[in-house]
Amino acid sequence: MYLRRMTTPNRDVAVFTTIADLHSYLADARRSGATVGCVPTMGYLHDGHASLIREAAAHHKVVVVSIFVNPTQFGPSEDFERYPRDFDRDLAIVGNAGGTAIFFPSVEEMYPSGARSTIHIDGVTEMLEGAQRPTHFDGVATVVSRLFEAMLPDEAYFGQKDYQQTLVVKRLVATSPLEAVNRATITVLPTQREVDGLARSSRNVYLSQEDRADAPVIFRALSRARMAYADGERSATVLEQLMLDELSTVQRLQVEYATAVDAVTLLPSSVFADDQHIVLLVAARLGSTRLIDNLVIDPTA
Ligand code: PAJ
Repeated sequence: MYLRRMTTPNRDVAVFTTIADLHSYLADARRSGATVGCVPTMGYLHDGHASLIREAAAHHKVVVVSIFVNPTQFGPSEDFERYPRDFDRDLAIVGNAGGTAIFFPSVEEMYPSGARSTIHIDGVTEMLEGAQRPTHFDGVATVVSRLFEAMLPDEAYFGQKDYQQTLVVKRLVATSPLEAVNRATITVLPTQREVDGLARSSRNVYLSQEDRADAPVIFRALSRARMAYADGERSATVLEQLMLDELSTVQRLQVEYATAVDAVTLLPSSVFADDQHIVLLVAARLGSTRLIDNLVIDPTA
């Protein structure tokens, strides 16, 4: 274990690379009556991550942010090797947002050789991201379970930005036999956006100037469908067509999916009931970057 001192705003952030050291820090904290909020991340933090850390700090004396680029959730042709990393910048963001500790494990610490079990969640993983990235959610469920065993959260914070991931994590917590996992409360917070609507993402750094100018079309497409819903449109096909029409205004965008589905099951309906929670989801490629975004429609809100 080692400690790094933050200069702004004069707060210490403890950095742990092993589960054993993190556990003794957490045991000390709990003895002094602290509750533990956790924010799992892959680093290269931005304001979306910071919003989760700030909310965790508002509710918990101890806030552990994990920074781990998890190899098992990347497919063989995906961007694991080039995923952006900047530990010193992340450290400053964690300290400024009110985080008290960073868990920064090696791949070997998270996946000791010989320990090769994988957690598979079914029901919400087959479609959308799961269809495009077949091993992705096994990697996410497995690493989140291991991270919870390391960070022992009372409450863990996730972003709506990765909507399907929040359903996978909730199902993981609901079905896990491990106390460290099933005792955690999961809190999902809204997507933080740039002023033009683009959802903040570590991967936005990949966007060229031209990509960046075109990228807000995704939020425009989602917003157009949300507006049609507000005007009474309940046909999934019509909502999807509106999104596709908007997305087609950027010809170089390659759409993987643009869909309106039930927000709990992710299953399609042809016509939505008036009291049904629905989610609009888009995944698309722009140049070499894959972008995802979504909007949830809560008819009771
Ligand atoms: P990462 O992409 O780093 O995201 C960490 C958390 O920040 C996730 O819960 C994600 O939904 C949230 N987040 C990302 N962009 C956001 C935004 N614009 N607004 C609000 N929240 C946002 O998601 C992962 O890492 C990994 O899959 C992980 C859960 C850490 C497992 O490896």
